[in-house]
Amino acid sequence: MKAFVVDRYGKDVQLRAAERPEPVVGDHDVLVEVRAAGVNPLDSKIKAGEFKLIFPHKPPFAVGHDLAGVVLAVGSAVQRFVPGDEVYARVRDDRIGTFAERIAVAEDDLARKPAAVSMAEAASLPLVALTAWQALVEKADLGPGQKVLIQAGSGGFGSIAIQLAKHLGAYVATTTSTPNVGWVRELGADLVIDYRTQDFTTLVDGYDLVLDSLGGQTLEKSLSVLRPGGLAIGLGGPPDPGFAAQVGKPMLRPVLALLSHKIRGRARRHRVAYAFMFMRPDGRRLSDLGSLVDDGTIRPVVDRVFGFADTAAALDYVETGRAKGKVVVTME
Ligand SMILES: NC(=O)c1ccc[n+]([C@@H]2O[C@H](COP(=O)([O-])OP(=O)(O)OC[C@H]3O[C@@H](n4cnc5c(N)ncnc54)[C@H](OP(=O)(O)O)[C@@H]3O)[C@@H](O)[C@H]2O)c1
Repeated sequence: MKAFVVDRYGKDVQLRAAERPEPVVGDHDVLVEVRAAGVNPLDSKIKAGEFKLIFPHKPPFAVGHDLAGVVLAVGSAVQRFVPGDEVYARVRDDRIGTFAERIAVAEDDLARKPAAVSMAEAASLPLVALTAWQALVEKADLGPGQKVLIQAGSGGFGSIAIQLAKHLGAYVATTTSTPNVGWVRELGADLVIDYRTQDFTTLVDGYDLVLDSLGGQTLEKSLSVLRPGGLAIGLGGPPDPGFAAQVGKPMLRPVLALLSHKIRGRARRHRVAYAFMFMRPDGRRLSDLGSLVDDGTIRPVVDRVFGFADTAAALDYVETGRAKGKVVVTME
């Protein structure tokens, strides 16, 4: 079968179309015919080798984390799916490779595809929707009336996080550039800050939560808009020592402590907390999120759809950092 692979780690390395062996379907696995695959900055980071200490893959390896497709076969222990089911998933980190014609997915990572949306729209959702849920609900316990600042509201992650935060009853501020202000407001954000002409630190204060996917100076400045005891969740890093435990690599704890030393110190001085978050696949939660898609609470935001043959170009486009919502590759 055909798949897009990384031949060697590197930022400027392009994905290559390759012939790969058919997936091996274990007892707890579901063989899925991929109809569409969402493209994420994480695919680019994996290709660049940024995660190779944490999730080692031996080149050549296939990439891609998100998919929507149709079940072709199930392992002997699979209970929730049968051939013909339409499904979607963010596959687990040691079994990536959704830029492929077929993939074997752990049953626990898989959910029924929301019926109200297309395969391309469904494939745009798993990684970002699960991230938004895990950050807003599981990590921050965001409730009605609380205030959240979501950096980069026009990105793949931000465009879904805004909608979920509004659903939870929060007051939502977000940042984007001038051309995106209008449509980002239509996603439900209460305050849209144009970062090209406005400084968010002068407009936002006393917030309960910041979701920051940009890192660097934006993350540092974000600490100043929180109330004492508020929380900044970093999605773009730096990773903190807790991440070493999450990925089962306690020996990385000192390195991650060092990487996040500066931002944790700054957070302490502001009397707020900093936590890195790295999302986990979760088929059951994805199923609940699918209900929010079917009832119209969450609307997928797809910027561009590429054909499978153009998967490398799709990743190049994501790497520009200018996507308005998500980028998807389809098999049609
Ligand atoms: N840790 C996790 O579990 C996790 C999960 C999801 C995502 N992430 C990370 O979060 C980051 C963002 O992901 P994504 O999928 O949203 O990326 P993306 O779709 O590529 O983000 C692109 C968007 O970022 C906006 N942007 C760029 N610079 C900005 C700035 N200074 N202020 C405000 N907006 C800005 C752009 O808007 P303009 O064109 O208007 O500038 C564009 O719409 C990536 O690093 C990704 O790896 C991490």
